[in-house]
Amino acid sequence: MESPEFCSDSQNGESAFADVPFAPEPLVYAVMAAFREDPSPLKLNLGIGVYRTEKTVYIPKPTYSNHPNFFSSVGLVVKTYRYYDLATHGLDFQGLLEDLSFAPPGSIVLLQACGHNPTGVDPTIQEWEQIRQFIRSKGLLPFFDSAYQGLVSGNLDADAQSVRLFVTDGGESLIAQSYSKNMGLYGERVGALLIVCKTAEVAIEVESQLKLVIRPMYSNPPIHGASMVTAILKDREMYNEWTSDLKKMNDRLINIRQKLVNTLRDKGTPGDWSHIIRQVGMYSLSGLSQDQIAFMTKEYHVYMSSDGRISMAGLSSRTVPHLVEAIHAAVTRVI
Ligand SMILES: Cc1ncc(COP(=O)(O)O)c(C=O)c1O
Repeated sequence: MESPEFCSDSQNGESAFADVPFAPEPLVYAVMAAFREDPSPLKLNLGIGVYRTEKTVYIPKPTYSNHPNFFSSVGLVVKTYRYYDLATHGLDFQGLLEDLSFAPPGSIVLLQACGHNPTGVDPTIQEWEQIRQFIRSKGLLPFFDSAYQGLVSGNLDADAQSVRLFVTDGGESLIAQSYSKNMGLYGERVGALLIVCKTAEVAIEVESQLKLVIRPMYSNPPIHGASMVTAILKDREMYNEWTSDLKKMNDRLINIRQKLVNTLRDKGTPGDWSHIIRQVGMYSLSGLSQDQIAFMTKEYHVYMSSDGRISMAGLSSRTVPHLVEAIHAAVTRVI
């Protein structure tokens, strides 16, 4: 019977929490927050006990546009290594090795495991082996971004070959594995960071540092998407259905590439478009110029990134003729 009175008193009077003392933020978080808010380009965070070295990262040129953001946002110096040869529309293998030869030992080398975004150009398995030997002999640290496993050959194992070459050689590697594309879970943010360490002791130390990074960033990961992935990976029937879906998706991407090139050839569109068939995965770097793309957008309502990248997944048999009309007009009218 007393409680309604107490309730109305406390609503009108002082807060029930008025006597709760202010708890100071743990010092380490306060320093981190102050660091984040400081706009100075000279800022230097020596507060948190995360191991740092003179850590430069080398990323391919070109690469997924978000890669430089990830690394520069954590204070790493970002340099590029040659990857794409504009003349052949293929891999600039010599350029890649030459540029990496300037990387000091301990530098991180970002490698896309398969289905390179935006070029659609992957090293052959022999080239991967040479890259592996080179990276190991120079004491560089490979960091794989695996975002398209299964979408290049239609086979998960074949698309993991590059990563497995490095993982089985006894050296250390980092692998960022995404399930956004190959499980269609883009909105769920499902993936994993795997760090292969030389010894169990080092792995425990590295894990402890990762927890320091994770705790203030997201504390606990969302569970929904990860449970879907776990269910599929653990159930033989669902796993088989997933892998056969991947094969179908891959076959469709290959068919669309072929159809696009055939239609360009049938129409007599100037240029050698065979690189579209040689390139793999979801993307093709078409070679169309920025002006040609702007023309295609204005006149033909074709939207694509200004670097000339075509996302093959966005095309269908029905829309190929329209794209070919647009490309034909662009390359014949916009030089
Ligand atoms: C090479 C590459 N890595 C990572 C991503 C994004 O992965 P996630 O959705 O897991 O952040 C993409 C594309 O969205 C990509 O092309």
